[in-house]
Amino acid sequence: MKIIMYNVRQDTEGRFVREWAKETGNEVKVVHEPLSADNVNLMKGCDGLDILQTMPIGDEAVYKQIADMGIRQITCRMVGINMIDLAACKKYNLKVTHVPVYSPRAIAEMGVAHAMYLLRRIGEYRYEMDHNADFSWPANLMSNEIFNLTVGLIGLGNIGSATAQIYKALGAKVIAFDPSYNPADEPFVTYVDSADEVIKNADILSLHVPLLPSTKGMIGAEQLKMMKNSAYLINMSRGGLVDTEALIQALKNHEIAGAGLDTLADETTYFGKKVTPADVPADYKELAAMPNVTITPHSAFFTETAVRNMVRIGLNDVVTIVNGGRSRNEVFLG
Ligand code: COI
Repeated sequence: MKIIMYNVRQDTEGRFVREWAKETGNEVKVVHEPLSADNVNLMKGCDGLDILQTMPIGDEAVYKQIADMGIRQITCRMVGINMIDLAACKKYNLKVTHVPVYSPRAIAEMGVAHAMYLLRRIGEYRYEMDHNADFSWPANLMSNEIFNLTVGLIGLGNIGSATAQIYKALGAKVIAFDPSYNPADEPFVTYVDSADEVIKNADILSLHVPLLPSTKGMIGAEQLKMMKNSAYLINMSRGGLVDTEALIQALKNHEIAGAGLDTLADETTYFGKKVTPADVPADYKELAAMPNVTITPHSAFFTETAVRNMVRIGLNDVVTIVNGGRSRNEVFLG
């Protein structure tokens, strides 16, 4: 089988893609850029399609072109499918799979790393040492220990659950809101009845929901005011969940203690890329200048285990679906 794979880094190609192709005897045509109207034609003659999209593929015409070239599926080798037009996929009979479990721990650990850095005020100490030669222990930097704190999770899917397990192991009290109940999470969390209850009670508020019309901007000025002044917001999920301008204001007004972000609403133009300084947006610069804010460029997924699994699980699904089989990673198109 010949599979075309878009948005493949050279290191990923050299290691995991070639390894999989050799092992399975399939041919993989690698494209380094993400799928777009400009390169959709490259899939002519291929049987299967594997993508990784941090920006939209293009308008409906691109999906039609994919179907017209005889492709019957789109495998998105990542968790989030918010860059895929699912209605267009349905219209052109394109089955969609994603990779929801390539390594929930990778994302969970990054969120905990941000939270612990913030909680122990490391950025603020660094600021004082670097800018004011102040190596003292200012009273306002006395911190707390995680076992005294309540961690609040909104969303308890694979990543939320992995996050809960780590915080529980660290001794924190973990509360969570998710409309669906999973008994497997009972040992690690206390379920509460609403997102607001989590927001009000959390010392560390961690978001683990997908970006949907219903979750867009779910943390805005009102929710930030509801949070404890001493609380930290952790967003390893999607930037669009948080109103960035409201977050900047809340931080300036000391309504919350800090924020750990692996994602920002406007990130598609620069996270995951090298850009010129002029292309770095003002909201990023404002947040990055705050010592009580940590930002990583959507890199929580970037571990050896996660990248290997994204490649292997995704490509295995391509083969399964193209051969007429079913995968547990299929996305319901309605
Ligand atoms: C996802 O898997 O949904 C991510 O956000 C990581 C992706 C940028 C590779």
